[in-house]
Amino acid sequence: MASSLASLDEDKKIPQHIAIIMDGNGRWAQAQGKGRVAGHKAGVESVRAVVTGARKSGVKALTLFAFSSENWQRPEQEVSVLMDLFMFVLTKEVKRLHKNGIRFQVIGDLSRFSEKLQKNIRKSEALTAENTGLILSVAANYGGRWDIANAAKELAAQVQNKEISLDDINEYSLHKETCLAELPALDLLIRTGGDYRISNFLLWQAAYAEFYFTDILWPDFDEAEFSMAIDVFDQRERRFGKTGEQVTKK
Ligand code: IPE
Ligand code: IPE
Ligand code: MG
Repeated sequence: MASSLASLDEDKKIPQHIAIIMDGNGRWAQAQGKGRVAGHKAGVESVRAVVTGARKSGVKALTLFAFSSENWQRPEQEVSVLMDLFMFVLTKEVKRLHKNGIRFQVIGDLSRFSEKLQKNIRKSEALTAENTGLILSVAANYGGRWDIANAAKELAAQVQNKEISLDDINEYSLHKETCLAELPALDLLIRTGGDYRISNFLLWQAAYAEFYFTDILWPDFDEAEFSMAIDVFDQRERRFGKTGEQVTKK
């Protein structure tokens, strides 16, 4: 009995792939009487915390929503600060990611970013490409609908080039063309900031993910909060269409 806690821990289900909608930066800043930008800056610390938490708990892939395809509609000044911050963090942090064996990649339509930022992203991806530790994907100018439409276009091109036939189009071949197809299936989707929606994030990939919503604003989300989300995941019963009896039976 004395060892029950330890053995419980060993049995804990660890999500292989966690994605996070990092929301609430603006409200966090406003609550402190600061401008929204201060919230985005403070949010960088939470990114560090979840990366550390993911490595410690043995998560294989962590996918973070940093900028949606809809976020261009924000005030120009906020968008511009977000781009600068992205550039700054990329330059400053990528060496550390590399040192920790993390493979870094960006998903989304990068064509709308400045040439300088695109170059920086490609450089960071190349530097860490061979790493075998945590796979950290940052979604920037990403939209779930864009992802699916893009995959459809890719398959259409393959049909046009006679590489595949129309009958080869199915959910498996489409899946292969979506972002993150090479990663383990998304197990857990976390959203901070108190809203209960997916905001056009990983629409395809979230088909059977567990959802975890918290009121905590992103800059307040730390390693302990991350660990709590994993604990909640461990308590969930994933049935994938089967009955509860079927999945509990050994
Ligand atoms: C999330 O925080 C960060 C981005 C979308 C870039 P918000 O900026 O959306 O913060 P709130 O939701 O306004 O508090
Ligand atoms: C979702 O947050 C996008 C990111 C966290 C990057 P938003 O704040 O943009 O979502 P909505 O607009 O409230 O749905
Ligand atoms: Mg928001």
